[in-house]
Amino acid sequence: MPSDSTRPQKRFLQALQGQKTDRPPFWYMRQAGRYLPEYRALRAEAGSFLSLCYAPDFAVEVTLQPLRRYQMDAAILFSDILVIPHALGQSLDFVQGEGPVLEPIDHEEKLKTLSLEGIHEHLNPVYETVERLSKDIPSTTALIGFAGAPWTVATYMVGGRGSADQAAARLWAYRAPDSFQKLIDLLVDATASYLIEQVNRGAEALQIFDSWAGNLPETEFARWSIAPIRAVVKKVKQVYPDIPIIGFPKGAGENYIRFFKETGVQAIGLDTSVPVEWARDHLQKLGPVQGNLDPLLLVSGGDEMLSVARRIIETFQDGPFIFNLGHGIVQHTPPEHVDELSTFIREWKR
Ligand code: CP3
Repeated sequence: MPSDSTRPQKRFLQALQGQKTDRPPFWYMRQAGRYLPEYRALRAEAGSFLSLCYAPDFAVEVTLQPLRRYQMDAAILFSDILVIPHALGQSLDFVQGEGPVLEPIDHEEKLKTLSLEGIHEHLNPVYETVERLSKDIPSTTALIGFAGAPWTVATYMVGGRGSADQAAARLWAYRAPDSFQKLIDLLVDATASYLIEQVNRGAEALQIFDSWAGNLPETEFARWSIAPIRAVVKKVKQVYPDIPIIGFPKGAGENYIRFFKETGVQAIGLDTSVPVEWARDHLQKLGPVQGNLDPLLLVSGGDEMLSVARRIIETFQDGPFIFNLGHGIVQHTPPEHVDELSTFIREWKR
């Protein structure tokens, strides 16, 4: 471990500590993936998405691919939020053209099929990927570990697949909140110990994805999004008090304020719908913000993409800020547009 004076400065970590930076650090959600031909080639070689996730040689390489092209300030571990249900014993498959498919856990009886016992053994390849990445990434690049929030992971576990309204999980939570709470509690324990082990192996910051927080009414938002994330953050901070954690409660609207104040996260990821001036006035005074260019602007590209990016940066430039998208890069994004946006940010002068 180099001493403080020789340790390279990482803009991404400076921003997370609440500092203004010479230019905004940037990375993109889903920066590794199908829009890159070199990713598609490796996935074909590995045979499936899950075998990429569980093979450190492949997962390290796929994590590094976008960095070579665009020199982001942070690398995010290549894995998926659904390795947690898989590690707990639920069947999981990623079906071409359909997304994840799981054997639904849709009532209390089925909770018995899940167990915390073997999770670290199951997840060991992911930890090995983190450890190798922490040695292989450039010295100015930070390494982000991640997990899904208990609520978002539960929506897939209960529904058995993605859905627009997450009705299966919401109905269980309304009909039998005490038994649904047992599933959430299990996910809190699994997620916290998963994140702690990622930090043990070299992750320098963590992001918690609550991608389906936006479909929860206020009371349910407090119980199923805020409370479990607060519990995860507390457990992680008991072991690593200084590890920065970014929360991403996609679609939370005005609930973003409560979420930021009550979960204990250091920084907040803004989805595409959050108005930037509102976020500057209500969220950035609470801590660093990250976001929120529409991923579809990265598909359309050109002057409109750059002028929206400029407006986002100018709005947030007087406080701690990390440039990102408002959701993940989509499959049909032209890599040249990612290049153009990344060059624009790297050359930004305040
Ligand atoms: O580059 C990165 O951001 C790191 C890797 C990463 C993936 N998924 C890889 C992936 C991360 C951080 C995720 C998070 C994730 N996974 C979320 C939360 C963020 C969000 O997008 O809201 C969710 C909800 C999932 C669950 C998931 N994984 C779905 C619904 C799907 C199918 C839809 C799709 O885009 O394919 C996946 C598959 C997935 N996860 C792929 C990748 C690269 C595509 C797999 C492939 O076909 O090669």
